[in-house]
Amino acid sequence: MRVTVFGASGLLGKALLHEWRGDAVTGLSSRDADIRDAERVQQVVRETRPQWIVLAAAYTDVDGCEGNPDLAFAVNRDGAMNVAAVAKEVGARLLFLSSDYVFDGKKTTAYEISDQRNPQSVYGRAKAEAEVKLLELMPECCIARTSWLFGTGGKSFPDTILRLAASRPALDVVNDQHGCPTYTTDLARAMIQLCRKNASGIVHVTNSGDCTWFEFAQEIVRVAGLATTVRPVSSQQMARPAPRPAYSVLSQASLQVLGIKMPSWHDALRRYLEQRQLTT
Ligand SMILES: NC(=O)c1ccc[n+]([C@@H]2O[C@H](COP(=O)([O-])OP(=O)(O)OC[C@H]3O[C@@H](n4cnc5c(N)ncnc54)[C@H](OP(=O)(O)O)[C@@H]3O)[C@@H](O)[C@H]2O)c1
Repeated sequence: MRVTVFGASGLLGKALLHEWRGDAVTGLSSRDADIRDAERVQQVVRETRPQWIVLAAAYTDVDGCEGNPDLAFAVNRDGAMNVAAVAKEVGARLLFLSSDYVFDGKKTTAYEISDQRNPQSVYGRAKAEAEVKLLELMPECCIARTSWLFGTGGKSFPDTILRLAASRPALDVVNDQHGCPTYTTDLARAMIQLCRKNASGIVHVTNSGDCTWFEFAQEIVRVAGLATTVRPVSSQQMARPAPRPAYSVLSQASLQVLGIKMPSWHDALRRYLEQRQLTT
């Protein structure tokens, strides 16, 4: 199988290229092809002739998107449509990465794929609009919503916590946002299976289990054997430009239907920290 990955230089893209074996995978960064440039996208897709396109390229700075909506929509919605248009033209399947931030966070039980989108941030709106337009253009495309990514080769929450914990006796971390931390290695393996299984429609793909950022930070400090105290605070105390959903846990049901099982985030974190220790 020939596969073209947009966003190959990102956190997920690096894991995808590392994990993907047995197929011919081409990885592209924004320098290879800016997805806002429809002609360039067309050119690289014609050159690489993929059967599957994985669209992991995005403007992922959620607070940055809030201050720069034009760029957020240009990349995350219109750029995605540029890729989809070429995918349709050449008959390639498309796997698009979306986000838990398409939801408003008002539920208290896991979000199902059938739940209504109601994004609260510019980033979430751009992703939600991309989803709707993609499904209109290519009803057979696959949309994988994921959340709270951590992994090697980019900005990663465990790394931030470990860096701060090394120099501070106590850390304040928000305890009123619930979600599913997801290890890029596990997400990448699931993405590969989705392509091999010829999946279509919306799928929720996260590590299993859920927590708050505070609980996640506590576990990082505990597993790393550090003495730093982690203190729970509210989102109001740590105000950020973009609102985040208070609860964006994604149900595992859609993935289970496809026979794909995700490890727990506790297990994923332990493996990530072990691997990190080996490489630092
Ligand atoms: N990180 C999370 O917690 C999270 C949560 C939910 C969903 N997601 C989604 O999962 C996907 C992967 O996220 P990630 O964390 O791996 O992202 P990331 O580390 O921020 O990487 C973003 C990737 O997109 C590329 N890119 C950015 N702007 C581009 C443009 N205009 N044209 C072409 N490529 C462009 C970057 O290329 P350069 O390196 O060349 O800039 C990079 O390869 C994204 O769709 C994201 O929205 C992420």
